[in-house]
Amino acid sequence: MPADLHPEAVTAAVRNPDPFIDLGHVRQVFRTQSGGEVVALDDVNLQIRDGEFVSVLGPSGCGKSTLMRIIGGLASPTSGETRIDGEPVSGPSPLVGMVFQQPALFPWRSVLRNVTLPAEVLKLPKKAAEERGKELLETVGLGHATHLYPYELSGGMQQRAGIARALLHDPKILLMDEPFGALDALTRESMGLELLRVWESTKKTVVFVTHSVNEALFLADRVVVMAARPGRIAEVHEVALPRPRTLDLMATAEFSQAADHLRQLLGAKTGD
Ligand SMILES: Nc1ncnc2c1ncn2[C@@H]1O[C@H](COP(=O)(O)OP(=O)(O)OP(=O)(O)O)[C@@H](O)[C@H]1O
Ligand SMILES: [Mg+2]
Repeated sequence: MPADLHPEAVTAAVRNPDPFIDLGHVRQVFRTQSGGEVVALDDVNLQIRDGEFVSVLGPSGCGKSTLMRIIGGLASPTSGETRIDGEPVSGPSPLVGMVFQQPALFPWRSVLRNVTLPAEVLKLPKKAAEERGKELLETVGLGHATHLYPYELSGGMQQRAGIARALLHDPKILLMDEPFGALDALTRESMGLELLRVWESTKKTVVFVTHSVNEALFLADRVVVMAARPGRIAEVHEVALPRPRTLDLMATAEFSQAADHLRQLLGAKTGD
């Protein structure tokens, strides 16, 4: 029997149909100023499905941002392969939108003109970009703020504008590196709920880096737990919590059990 028709191979294929993001044996080594080496990522293997929401959790320095930069085509690994929709990643792709901890809006551009910036970079039609920019600002709750300037916005509003900007060119993948790290706890919770709403309505594939166990668990279908020195995947945790998610889920026993499990993996001594 050919190997690919073996019953186990068929079952595995049904369980994991063509991964949308596929990292195979990814290794990233950096040289330090003193001539040493830092293994930022060591043999990282990860498959993410189209439309999946994956959180990445791990201590500082375990390679989370490095991983995001590699998926986003902003860095190429020392060895290993990254594919998006079957194609090797060789540079930034229009399939990807990125959101960082600081939204880095241009102070001299209005909210709408910040959001439509990718259209200028990608040379997309201006009128259509403006229409889409307005729609997206509605979606993230900033419909009233299109003509304001970044200094007139709260941190949460700026981050919403950053999300709208990342979605402008309709990427299939949203890479978010600690997007809510600079926000207060209450704003952070409401941003999480809003992100889930956007994710459910746009069917994007989301990779979301956070230091918060609760946030990782609340949002995701799976939580990738990383460890440091060398940076690697320690465990991939399937989240069995029902959707749609509401904040009262965090008060349930099943949520606490899963969170405790993740905290043990992280070796954390305190909750968050
Ligand atoms: N361009 C670079 N040159 C040298 N070393 C680097 C570079 N980028 C990252 N590193 C090192 O690689 C390791 C992983 O860094 P990375 O920024 O990916 O960690 P992280 O998990 O995102 O951390 P944090 O939670 O603090 O953001 C660290 O030891 C860091 O010092
Ligand atoms: Mg980082």
